[in-house]
Order: sequence, then C-alpha cells, then structure tokens
Amino acid sequence: MNDLAISVHDLVAGYAPEVNILRGVGLEVRRGEIVTVLGPNGAGKSTLVKVIAGLVAVRGGSVQLFGEDIAEVAAHLMVRRGLAYVPQINNIFARLSVEENLEMGAYTQGQRTEVRRGIERMFDLFPQLWERRRQLAGTLSGGERQMVAVARALMANPKVLMLDEPSAGLSPKLVSVVFSKIREARDLGVTILIVEQNAKAALAISDRGYVLAEGRDQVNGDARELLENTEIGRLYLGILRGLS
Ligand SMILES: Nc1ncnc2c1ncn2[C@@H]1O[C@H](COP(=O)(O)OP(=O)(O)OP(=O)(O)O)[C@@H](O)[C@H]1O
Ligand SMILES: [Mg+2]
Repeated sequence: MNDLAISVHDLVAGYAPEVNILRGVGLEVRRGEIVTVLGPNGAGKSTLVKVIAGLVAVRGGSVQLFGEDIAEVAAHLMVRRGLAYVPQINNIFARLSVEENLEMGAYTQGQRTEVRRGIERMFDLFPQLWERRRQLAGTLSGGERQMVAVARALMANPKVLMLDEPSAGLSPKLVSVVFSKIREARDLGVTILIVEQNAKAALAISDRGYVLAEGRDQVNGDARELLENTEIGRLYLGILRGLS
C-alpha cells in the first residue's frame, strides 16, 4: 500500500501560453492526514488543487494519487479514483434542495439504498442540514452552504477530499463549525487537502502545512510549528487573515 495519498513534484502549470503560475511546486499528503496550503491572494493555491483535480493541465513535473500518475486523467474520472474536490466558488446547486444536492453527489453510485444510506450518514454528520433538507440550497447561510458542499463531496465516498477556501465569507463562529466538521470527516477515514487564507483556523485542525508563494512551495512543516513560527508568519503569512 502506498503511504502517500497525493504526491506532487516539480509541478509547472498555468493558463496563458508561456506564463506559468506554478513554477516547480512540491507537495505530499499522506493517508489520513489533513494538510493545508497557505499563501497570499493569487499565489496559485486554487490552481494547484485544480491541477490535482484534472481541471488545469500539467505542463511539467508529476501528480500522483496513491502512487499512480493522474496528470492525464480527466476531471470527471477523478471521483471514481477516490478524489473529490470542493471548488472555491459555485460549489452547490443553488436551485436544488439540500437533499437533492446530496443525491447529486452520489451520481457514481447506482444503488438507491446505498444513496439513502449515504444521505442518512451525512445528516448524522451535519444534523443542522437535516432540518433544512427540503430548503433550496441557494437560500441557506454561508456556513450551511459550505456544509452542503462538503457533504455533497463526501457522498461519493472519496478517499481524498480537496477543499478550496472552506472558510471564505464565514463568520468566526461558523468557521470553527465548518473546520470541526472537516476534522470529523478525517476521523471517518478521509484524507484531506485544504487551501486556505485563514492560516490560524486551518493550521489548528491540520497535521502539516505548506506555504505557496511566487510560484513555489516556500516552506512546509508541522502545522503547530508553522503556526508558532513568527519568522514564517512575518515573511509569508503576515498579510493573511488570522495571523496578522
Ligand atoms: N482561468 C484563468 N485564466 C487565466 N488566469 C487565471 C485563471 N485562474 C487564475 N488565474 C491567474 O492565476 C494566478 C493564481 O490564481 P489562483 O486562483 O490559483 O490563486 P489563489 O492563490 O487561489 O488566490 P486566492 O487566494 O485569491 O483564491 C492569478 O494571477 C490569477 O489571475
Ligand atoms: Mg483561490
């Protein structure tokens, strides 16, 4: 068994021809870990998870999932390989109910009873969503929407879950609720990669962290050490919410 869930080496990627946003990024996420990628606006954090999710092409280097090269795997096939991704924006179906959103997350599973069981499991994990199960997802609060997005991704029974800015736009109280749910998901056996600007909240639930800046991974280490390292905070994280 491969101990590494995600393994990225010397990754080069970008959008416009000949302009690389990622210029040699390395990242490893071991099975069962929560790893957070931090970095300033525009550093390429979302680009990094989009490359891993198969949405942005690999221009150089390698991306592996459980030891298998996934650089050429199409995004829609990633869920079947055990990788789920919650984008930074537009991560729910606003005009569907909470329950219908969860059903959509189970599209890879044929069995009706399996889908029902999955939905029940999600309502166990997110009891406040059960109360709102018939409500249109677009009418929920920011925190509730984020929970729907996470629950929908978990409906596919992923081995690895990637979350892009799960705390964006949430009040401090909701941030802690959403992050504690992410931790519960990990305790259920899901490996988690988070991209965040809220360094403090994300590192508090993470095992390890990376700082992405100027196209490269600048620092990585134990989450607590990153949180306590004032030099790193001053150099790379000072401009981020949470540590400033
Ligand atoms: N679809 C796109 N086409 C062209 N350029 C893009 C596209 N998406 C992102 N970029 C550019 O790539 C760079 C990195 O963007 P990215 O969204 O990965 O940063 P980020 O670290 O996630 O930032 P934020 O913290 O603001 O979410 C930015 O300069 C951005 O303008
Ligand atoms: Mg982003």
